[in-house]
Amino acid sequence: MSERFYITTPIYYVNAEPHIGHAYTTIVADVLNRFHILSGMDTFFLTGTDEHGDKIVKAAEQSSESPKEYVDRISRMFRELWPRLNISNNQFIRTTDPDHQETVRLILSRVKEKGDIYFSEYEGLYCFGCERFYTEKELVDGKCPDHQTEPEVIKEANYFFRMSRYQQWLIDHIHANPGFIRPERYKNEVLSFLSEPLDDLCISRPKSRLTWGITLPFDDNFVTYVWFDALINYISALGYPSGSRFETYWPSAQHVIAKDILKPHGIYWPCMLKSAGIEPYRHLNVHGYWNISRDKMSKSLGNVVRPLELVDIYGLDAFRYFLLREMVFGLDSEFSEAALVSRLNADLANDLGNLVSRSLTMVEKYFKGDLPEPGVARAPDEALKQSALDLVDAYGAMMRDLGLHKALMAVWEVISRVNKYIDEMAPWVLAKSDTERLSTVICYIFETLRIVAGLLWPFIPESAQKIQSQLGLARQGKDVTLQDLRVWGAERPVRPITKAPSLFPRIEKKEVEISATPKADDKSPSPSKDRTVASPGVQGVITYEDFQKMDLRIGVIRAAETIPGSKKLIKLTVDIGEERTVVAGLKGHYAEQALVGKEILLVANLKPATLMGVESHGMILAATDSSGLHLLVPDTEAVAGTRVK
Ligand code: ME8
Repeated sequence: MSERFYITTPIYYVNAEPHIGHAYTTIVADVLNRFHILSGMDTFFLTGTDEHGDKIVKAAEQSSESPKEYVDRISRMFRELWPRLNISNNQFIRTTDPDHQETVRLILSRVKEKGDIYFSEYEGLYCFGCERFYTEKELVDGKCPDHQTEPEVIKEANYFFRMSRYQQWLIDHIHANPGFIRPERYKNEVLSFLSEPLDDLCISRPKSRLTWGITLPFDDNFVTYVWFDALINYISALGYPSGSRFETYWPSAQHVIAKDILKPHGIYWPCMLKSAGIEPYRHLNVHGYWNISRDKMSKSLGNVVRPLELVDIYGLDAFRYFLLREMVFGLDSEFSEAALVSRLNADLANDLGNLVSRSLTMVEKYFKGDLPEPGVARAPDEALKQSALDLVDAYGAMMRDLGLHKALMAVWEVISRVNKYIDEMAPWVLAKSDTERLSTVICYIFETLRIVAGLLWPFIPESAQKIQSQLGLARQGKDVTLQDLRVWGAERPVRPITKAPSLFPRIEKKEVEISATPKADDKSPSPSKDRTVASPGVQGVITYEDFQKMDLRIGVIRAAETIPGSKKLIKLTVDIGEERTVVAGLKGHYAEQALVGKEILLVANLKPATLMGVESHGMILAATDSSGLHLLVPDTEAVAGTRVK
């Protein structure tokens, strides 16, 4: 019987449409699911929507719909998004599903019977955005740290879950199972919460205030607190308590979430499970935030980027690749469309796309599309083979450890090796002199590509399958196993290999704008513009020493003002660790205000020059073509004053 793997995403609130934060979590879960399929496991992948509670009612009111109409509409947006992102979920759960509601009532009754639920009056600070009470200590400047709003004082009688009873058990469980919450920093965060006495959890809301929820099985005047309801989705989706799916998959459960919901998943959920007599999940995998200009991308801050707009412009696999390659699982990342474009051009179009296309072209040109038999291998062939085979195991270890970006880096190391191998072996020379050697080289390239394509399938399934198909392989996508990839020469093409159109066309863009929009319901199209770069003629030659003489720095523009009487010049104050006055011919291309805060590249050791009476201490780098002037900027935020090498 094969091993099992059960993976979940959070069930997303339906109070706004999906953005790239939701897309990221779901794509990560998808990659892990596909990786485990590749590992030969029997997997189950769950996502869905969280549809009860105050904020849903408020969002429905705002759009003049009944809660039911509203949740049906937004839930559909999530459900319809996932196939477009090639998400391989087996189930989509909604907390308004009758089966789910039944399971919630069952768990509540069981926890109550256990003596873990009591009734009490409580006065506290309540954040409607989070739908929970806050302690003074948790607030930042008196405000909810997530919503940046002041909580309201609420006094009411409610039911409470005796969570404190499980505090010591949970501490012991975390210590005994080091990978229970990972990466380590989040385990430590949970242990630090647990180092203070744990408050009991208020698990009801009076119907006088909220009716949109699951009625408590033991008191009709109350509905269930949305978190107590929502967390149970992870087992109700498996048919708990009846059916075999729960027994099959629950022992291997892994959740993927971002750090915003660490506390409910790291503390409430294991305590709830313990009280209900259910084993805890196996791993809680916690990632960081996608930020925009250092703020978390979130519907409450209104700075969201819509996934489908990016997919429409750049293609699905470029989008998936970018998210997975750019973010170190567990840490925050800054989202930038410019960074997406440079990853697409450098990694996908140049490295991978060119490799595939030049390899296919060679098989077609030199062997009419029929892969030849290899001759005797030489040292460089063996070295390439070894690096490809070593990659399979290294990749597996990184994936199991959530090092998704590391796994991609390791695959790209091998991609660079094959590209280098082709350059060094020069098949175009062998084609004229040594067909046997040429055959061996072509076979080693083919085989490495077969392994690379297999390992890329979890990340960029559509493109990986295209490569497998172009290589003429019978087994593709989920039908390949890691075991197949460990065996050199395991599969030969069953069809002739033919040259195919390029997998990842380069995006010739210099100016891209983030399609962050202020309102979730704003339907304006993405402001990205397509402009082709004029190809520059290469001029002259300088030595490395000449280049080294230049002191190039990353600077941040702190102030910009017009120079009276000048049609072209702007006076800038640039921070490169020290402040510099720089005069630049940017007028007419950029508004002064738009320049402030921008990062630029500065030639910092030019002899000062006086322009229109202002002494300028440096030169800003920019390129001009028929479409105008373009400042050169670092692709991600860098520290002012950093030297460019
Ligand atoms: O919290 N960066 O739903 P939610 C990365 N319904 N990930 C982000 C993100 C960002 N800027 N913004 C959102 C809820 N996410 C509850 C969950 S589960 C039983 C109930 C992702 O719609 C990330 O996965 O607010 C985060 O944990 C989740 O969306 C929050 O989704």
